[in-house]
Amino acid sequence: MTVHFKQDEPDNSNRLDRMKQGVLGKPLPRIEGLAKVTGTAPYAAEYPIENCTEGVLVTATITRGEVTSIDHESVLTMPGVIAVVDNEKLCTRAAQGTANEAPMQGPKQVCYWGQPIALVVAETFEQARDAAKHLKVDYREEEGAPIDPGAVEPEEQEDETVHQGDLAHAMADAAHSVDVTYTTRGHASAAMEPHAAIAQWDGDKLTVYAALQMLNYNITELADALDMEEENIRLISRFVGGGFGSKLGISEEVVAAALAAKQIGRPVRVVQSRQQVFQTVMRRSETTQRLRLAADENGKLTGFGHEALVSNLPGEDFAEPVLQSSHFLYDGENRELMLKVARIHRMTAGSVRAPGEAVGMPALEGAMDVLAEKAGLDPVELRLRNIPEKDPEEDLPFSSHKLAECLKQGAEAFGWDKGPRKPRQRREGEWWIGTGMASAARVHNIAEAKARVTLKADGTALVETDMTDIGTGTYTILAQIVGEMLGLDPERVLVELGDTRHPRGPGSGGSWGAASIGSAVYVACKAIREELAAKTGTSEEELELREGEAGTGEALTDLLEGEDLAREGHYEPGDIEDDYTASGFGAFFAEVRVNHYTGETRVDRMLGAFGFGRVLNAKTARSQCIGGITWSIGVALTEALEFDPRDGHLVNCDLAEYHVPVHRDVPDLEVVLVEERDGAASPIQAKGIGELGMCGGAAAIANAIYNACGARIYDYPMTPDRVLEAMPE
Ligand code: MOS
Repeated sequence: MTVHFKQDEPDNSNRLDRMKQGVLGKPLPRIEGLAKVTGTAPYAAEYPIENCTEGVLVTATITRGEVTSIDHESVLTMPGVIAVVDNEKLCTRAAQGTANEAPMQGPKQVCYWGQPIALVVAETFEQARDAAKHLKVDYREEEGAPIDPGAVEPEEQEDETVHQGDLAHAMADAAHSVDVTYTTRGHASAAMEPHAAIAQWDGDKLTVYAALQMLNYNITELADALDMEEENIRLISRFVGGGFGSKLGISEEVVAAALAAKQIGRPVRVVQSRQQVFQTVMRRSETTQRLRLAADENGKLTGFGHEALVSNLPGEDFAEPVLQSSHFLYDGENRELMLKVARIHRMTAGSVRAPGEAVGMPALEGAMDVLAEKAGLDPVELRLRNIPEKDPEEDLPFSSHKLAECLKQGAEAFGWDKGPRKPRQRREGEWWIGTGMASAARVHNIAEAKARVTLKADGTALVETDMTDIGTGTYTILAQIVGEMLGLDPERVLVELGDTRHPRGPGSGGSWGAASIGSAVYVACKAIREELAAKTGTSEEELELREGEAGTGEALTDLLEGEDLAREGHYEPGDIEDDYTASGFGAFFAEVRVNHYTGETRVDRMLGAFGFGRVLNAKTARSQCIGGITWSIGVALTEALEFDPRDGHLVNCDLAEYHVPVHRDVPDLEVVLVEERDGAASPIQAKGIGELGMCGGAAAIANAIYNACGARIYDYPMTPDRVLEAMPE
C-alpha cells in the first residue's frame, strides 16, 4: 500500500523530537562500516560473475571531427580478443555522463579529445587493454575547434540574469566599493572508486552492476541510450566509492558494457582507468567572475553585482551555476547578476562537488573581505550587517536562516579576534601567520522519493529503496529514522539500497538525498504507526513506541499477530517550494601560515559552523562537513585541471598530478553543528549537508593568506608562485 504525501505547508510541530526511542541525531557509527573496512562490501566491479569478459574503452585522439573507420581486424587476431564494439549507440550524448537532457549526437561525431568511441573486449583485462592501444582508428578532423573559453563569444543564460535598480549608480555613490575579478580553475570529482560496470543479459532482460549516484534517473538514461523498456533493466549500486557529481549520470562504461554483453553473448565488465575517469567523465568548468559591491558608510550593501563566465561543450544544458546563492545571500537593492557560457571543445562540464557555490562563494567571500578592509569593519560584522530579512530578489521569506548564529557561534568557538584587521602582524621565523573567515551558503534541494518500510512479524524492520549511499551515511540515517519512528534499536532495522527492484528513491546528488529519502521513510513509518495506533486504541500522535513496545505495554510482535506490516512512502515536494527560499548556511574560520620565501601556505586550523536543519546523525553529518572543508582546502590551494592549449586534452589526469588535499595538508578540523529545525525544507525538518561544507571555505583560507602576509590574490588555487608574486616587498 502506497501512502502519498506532498508538502504544501511548513511542519513546525517537531514531532521527531518527541518520539521515545531517542536514537535520531545520535552519532551512530555507519552500519555498513565494518563491511567496508573489511573489504566485504561489493563495489560495482567486484561482483563475482561467471564467464565474465573484460572490456576497455578506446577514446578519441582528436578534438573535433568524425570517426571514418575503425579497423576491427587490427586487433581481432591478438591473444584473447573477442570483439570490438563500436555500435553507434555507444557514441550518443546520452552516454556521455551528463546529468541533463542534452541532444543526441550523430553517430561517431567526436566533440572532445578523450571521448569514448569503441570498446575492445577480451578474456582478460590486460589483453583488452593491449588491444585497445593497438586498435586502428581513422578520423576526419575539423580544424580550429575552440578550446579556450576566452576566445569565443559566450552565450548568456537568461534565466540567471537579474537587473534590479541601478548598480552603476550605486557604485558611483557608494562610500565604499569593490570591483574585482576572480578566476577559478577546472576541478575533477576525483572519487576514489573509478567508474565501472558489469553487464549481464538473460534473454531481453539486462542486469547492470554499476557505480552510480541516481539509479532512479540512470535507468531512464540507460533505457534511452539502448532504446529499451525500463522494466527490462535492473541496475544495482549497493556501494559506491564516492561520486561527487561524476556518477549522477551514466557514462560510457555502462552503455558499452551492455552493448558488448549483448553482442558477444557473455557478461562484460568495463572499468575505466584513473586516466579515463579524469579525461572522459566530466570536469567542473573554470570560471571568471566579476564582483561589484557598493556599501554605505556603515558597510551596509546598497549594490550587489556578480557576473560569471563558464564553459561547456556546444549543446550541453549544464552551466556551472556560479550565482546560485549570490541571489539571496546578502542585501543590496541595486543588483546585477549574469551567467555566460563559452562553447568550447573540452570534455563535458558537469556537476562536481557543490556545483555553483563551490566556486561562486569563494569569489564572493573574497570580495567581501576586500570590502571589510575598505570599510574598516570586522569581516564577521560586515556579514552580520548584510543578512537580508527576506530573499532580496524573489520577495520570499527564508524557510529558516542560521547565518547569524553560525557566524557568532563559529567566531566564538574559533577564538576570532573581533575588530578591523591589518595584514602582516604576526611572524614566526620564515612564516607569516594570519586568520580569515567566510560565510557558507548552499541552496537546499529536495526531490521526489519512494521507499517501502516493512515492520516484520518478528519485530524487526526492513527498508527498501533504490536510493544510493555514496559514502554519505544513507544506510545509517534511514535505520535511525525507522528506529525512532517505530521504537526499535537501529540494529533491528535492515536497510537495502541501490537496486532498481525497490521503490524509486531520489538518488544522491545536490545534497538532497537525506532530506528526500528520509521524508519518504518518515511517511511510510507514519502510516505504519497509524495501523499500530488503531490496534492499541490510541491515535498516531499519542502512540509511544520504544524498544519494541508500545507505551501501553504491548510488545510490537504481539500487536502484529504474526503478520508483516508494510507501507510504501511516497514523498513529493509540494507548493511549499515556491513559498520560501531554502538554504543551508554556515561560517568558516581559518588560520594559516605562509612562507615568506617559498610562498607555501599551510592551513594550521580550520573550523566550520553550519546550520542545515535537523541533524539526523551527528557523526555522519560532521564527517560530511569535514569532507567539505577538506575540499575547500583543495579549491583554495591545490586543485586545478590543466588542459593542453593545442587540442584541449586534460594533462594532469591522475591523483599524483591533480592535487586533492591529503593528510599532510589537512589539520584537525573543527565542526560546530548549529541547532536548527526547518519545517518548510522537509517533513523531517532537515536540509542538505554534504556540499555546504565546501561553499565558501576556500575564501576563509584566501582571506587568511592576505591577513598573514599581505598577498591579496584573485586567482584560485593560491599556489606558491601566485602567493610570491602577490607578496608585498
Ligand atoms: Mo552532486 S556534484 O550534485 O553529486
